[in-house]
Amino acid sequence: MHKPSALLSAFFALTILAAFSNAQTPSASDSARERVSFNAGWRFVREDPPNVGKSLNYERVKPWLLPCGDDLLNMSPPAALRLPPPAPNPAHLYGRAIDYTTSKFNDSAWRALDLPHDWGIEGPFYQELTGKTAKLPWFGVAWYRKTFDLPATDAGRRIYLELDGAMSYSMVWINGQFAGGWPYGYSSWRVDLTPHIKPGAKNVIAIRLDNPREASRWYPGGGIYRNTWLLKTAPVAIAQWGVFVTTPRVTATSAIVDVAVTLDNKTDARAETKLTTRLYAADANGAPSGSAIATAQPAALNAPALNQAWISQTFTLENPRLWSLGERNRYVAETEITQGGKVIDRVLTPFGIRSIEHTTEGFFLNGKRVPIRGVCMHHDLGALGSALNLRALERQIEILQSFGTNAIRTSHNPPAPELLELCDRMGMLVQVEAFDAWAIGKVRDDYSRLFPDWAEKDLRAMVRRDRNHPSVIQWSIGNEIREQAAPGGWKTAAHLAGVIREEDRTRPVAAGFNVIQSAYNGMMTAVDIVGYNYKPREYAKVRATHPHLLLLGAETASTISTRGVYVFPVSDNKADGLDRQNFQMSSYDLYAPRWATTPDDEWRSHDEVPGVMGEFVWTGFDYLGEPTPYNSDTTNLLNFAGAADRARMEKEMNALDKKRVPSRSSYFGIVDLAGFPKDRYYLYQSHWMPDKPMAHILPHWNWPERIGQVTPVHVYTSGDEAELFLNGKSLGRKKRGQYEYRFRWNDVVYAPGELKVVTYKNGKPWAETTTLTTGGAEKLLLAADRREIRADGRDLSFITVTVADKNGRQVPRSMNKINFSITGPGEIVAVDNGDPTSHAPFQASEREAFNGLALVIVRAKPGATGSFTLRAESETLAPAEIAISANQESRE
Ligand code: GAL
Repeated sequence: MHKPSALLSAFFALTILAAFSNAQTPSASDSARERVSFNAGWRFVREDPPNVGKSLNYERVKPWLLPCGDDLLNMSPPAALRLPPPAPNPAHLYGRAIDYTTSKFNDSAWRALDLPHDWGIEGPFYQELTGKTAKLPWFGVAWYRKTFDLPATDAGRRIYLELDGAMSYSMVWINGQFAGGWPYGYSSWRVDLTPHIKPGAKNVIAIRLDNPREASRWYPGGGIYRNTWLLKTAPVAIAQWGVFVTTPRVTATSAIVDVAVTLDNKTDARAETKLTTRLYAADANGAPSGSAIATAQPAALNAPALNQAWISQTFTLENPRLWSLGERNRYVAETEITQGGKVIDRVLTPFGIRSIEHTTEGFFLNGKRVPIRGVCMHHDLGALGSALNLRALERQIEILQSFGTNAIRTSHNPPAPELLELCDRMGMLVQVEAFDAWAIGKVRDDYSRLFPDWAEKDLRAMVRRDRNHPSVIQWSIGNEIREQAAPGGWKTAAHLAGVIREEDRTRPVAAGFNVIQSAYNGMMTAVDIVGYNYKPREYAKVRATHPHLLLLGAETASTISTRGVYVFPVSDNKADGLDRQNFQMSSYDLYAPRWATTPDDEWRSHDEVPGVMGEFVWTGFDYLGEPTPYNSDTTNLLNFAGAADRARMEKEMNALDKKRVPSRSSYFGIVDLAGFPKDRYYLYQSHWMPDKPMAHILPHWNWPERIGQVTPVHVYTSGDEAELFLNGKSLGRKKRGQYEYRFRWNDVVYAPGELKVVTYKNGKPWAETTTLTTGGAEKLLLAADRREIRADGRDLSFITVTVADKNGRQVPRSMNKINFSITGPGEIVAVDNGDPTSHAPFQASEREAFNGLALVIVRAKPGATGSFTLRAESETLAPAEIAISANQESRE
């Protein structure tokens, strides 16, 4: 237990009282604030009604959308000075003439579903669509509607609809009245429903989304794909993301904790309130545990009519329990607002106490050097698409951590808030990135359309939402921004960096650079951290010419491979390794696009220039879209505007050449789309987990057609010496040389049998492993990542299906088709196998194995407890079953 210590006097600092020993652990129920999930019971349709015309085009509606989020602008004029809304308002601009927005419209024929939802992942794959966005129909228009009762007792409260993310160009109506919206699909935002909502009655919300077809360089998904909330507050309440906790001084023995609170007064009278802040230790979920450990004396917090006001309360904690990657200690700040003695708002804010320093000697956490062993991640969850699922995200992090990853870059956009909560809990560092483009676009309808009007709000929304997470260590204002090479681009960079610094002075501003003219462009002066994308040779040069620059490999490697595929003869030219016949990439981890490189090459530069903070590899997981080197472009993108066009479109598609490139997901991942390790997983593990004894051999050893042919063998190990044996005969013992990160035996002549490697470290036995030529495929094996899940309809079990020989060994090249069935109260959510070229639907109960493996994702039917059994069958193989039990225990 911490004791609050000395009284601090600073400009806004307030007197600190000793902890109230009788303070109770707070619960949500006694608060005037209510935030409830709004995910259940929506209706959905994939088209506009006939009379819309161009009336809902973004450019037409923009003047009415722009006021959204004005509260986020620090410098916004007081309400009285703001411009009046555009007038007169033609009815169609508000959408009142459009049936779908109205309360009386009957949506019972629409599809019923719960959020989060991604319509694109439902497929099917269309060969004619570009592989760059996964050949999936994520684009076009869709509507969501929800009818709900609002209790009469909510009269007088402010009611907000909060969306963690909707893809994209959202427009919201409540009871037929336009309420606002937000175009950027990766931002979290809210609209105020209060003026038009009816307490004690039925209410209808309608949301229209519109995804331009050329909006993205990867699969963005389509839909309200993150969580949705209904927030109810008093008219005087803590502002959106209105609590900001910082720890301006942290030592092993004491920490200063500053809790800044912004009050939002939505009434037309001055609000006089009292603020009390209490600190608690947090449990593993970030909830308060035990009694308050420190309480600040109530302070006056008064806001003028229709305006905001802020104040901060400061504490000194002795012997703080620091947040680190190994010990994820957290605290909770409870912020309570009272008016006339009555609690009118209360917010709980989990935070961590830790110090971060970015220096030319590297990144330091709590004074200790931590090399950034990071990966870039797009937001999709493989077969689940972009629809948020907490367990799927958690599994991604578990897999990343299992090969030594300690950091994620949220390329190239703000993440789901749940990702950061998981990173706080699980001990990961995060670089949160805002944009892939500014005013100069990369594809026609990308963020460049929005940049001039929205960039400041999107940035403020990002930082304000995420700045209390101890896991977040850096903000990135952009990835490979075209303005790097444009005159005056640095001014935009300086502006954006300034916005971030206004919101948060505790973390540095970074950007990912790929244009390194003269090794130093103007934009680099505007940021704190210069992130290099694929420029390992530059570190030494820039270190010599600009020794003060903070360097990071913001995006590295981009090595490409397909799990279980090997191409012979093995070439060392990085442009080789293509299996053109099958649109796959060799897994010798030697191949990369023109701009990219191998892990080994990147690491050499870090060893040569040790002060570089580390790297974010492109990418941790394979992702949907961008199947380099098999990107296929087609000008024949289809228009998915409405069901009426469907028949015509399908005819057109059938007439097109089916033989074109099928690839629809990336080859960049260290693990594949299904989460199965590629060989590269072990290469990173050997380098990032140097103390873990491990050894890995590649390729597999089933090559009946290669008997007598040279078949190179590579070994990835954390040891420093390795001896390879083929059928008991030594092929030589090798010592790791300087800048060597793998062991290679290039002249091995293939003979079936046993390959074995014995490794050593510092002269002592370290790790060994064997790879055997297997027998034929005889049976299926099932293994679940979790045999017990919650029966909440959201928790998942990921079941790996292995095609095995009679001894239970994975048969490397097997592609058997497998059928799945479930008995009991469970269901299959999706299937996958990691093949980047497959057009088989993810939502199915059958799948071919890909190089010996397939994945089935199952869940319990909502509310149905008990055990259910997944059965896997394949024509010539012995079937397998696995039981999963579902219990009621809720997770949160
Ligand atoms: C980078 C880009 C990434 C991805 C990657 C593929 O230049 O920033 O988004 O496209 O290339 O190698």
